[in-house]
Amino acid sequence: AEQKATNVTWHEHNVTSEERQKLNGHKGAVLWFTGLSGCGKSTIANAVDRLLHDRGIHTFVLDGDNVRMGLNKNLGFSPEDRTENIRRIGEVAKLFCQGGTIVLTAFISPYREDRDQVREILDDGEFHEVYVNASLETCEERDPKGLYKKARAGEIKGFTGIDAPYEAPEKGELELDSDSKGIEELANEVIAHLEATGRLS
Ligand code: PPS
Repeated sequence: AEQKATNVTWHEHNVTSEERQKLNGHKGAVLWFTGLSGCGKSTIANAVDRLLHDRGIHTFVLDGDNVRMGLNKNLGFSPEDRTENIRRIGEVAKLFCQGGTIVLTAFISPYREDRDQVREILDDGEFHEVYVNASLETCEERDPKGLYKKARAGEIKGFTGIDAPYEAPEKGELELDSDSKGIEELANEVIAHLEATGRLS
């Protein structure tokens, strides 16, 4: 990507990530939840956040409320804007991760290439793509915000799953069956995954 700023130098951190890890008792990581609107990304991310927090782990959730209303309030839902949305969130997640936090992001992030790009800027083992798999039928039936109904009526154009694409992960770290399992069970699957991959110690 184009680098606009000139005369910018990269400052090495004085406090190392090893020191942060020692203080926290765990490494940083990015749990990247992806899936259709209404698939349960945000609810599951927040349930995992609660479980981890209660175990004394440093976590933070990035989702629509704290990103699309703030940092990314100038972005809409065109393919270009979605790509830029994900790029910025990826950079923010990376900073949190470098700070030693386990970041949980809950965005549709419909394009495989955009998610791969975030994977690319993180170190090995840090990026965990979590596919919250609920069928379009399920999401449409839940329709918590009434947006599918509006999209079907043509009142929203370019709605993911209706007339805009969703590219499901092919090589993600974890897939959650949100059609048939409940929040608590799925949240525990995420915790088990983190334990199995050594991110909690
Ligand atoms: S993206 O694709 O990753 O940039 O989207 P994201 O930042 O996660 O925002 C998705 C939420 O925005 C609402 N919304 C739309 N979603 C999809 N397509 C269109 N056109 C659209 N317009 C508004 C919708 O409520 C999504 O909420 P979630 O939490 O995913 O259900």
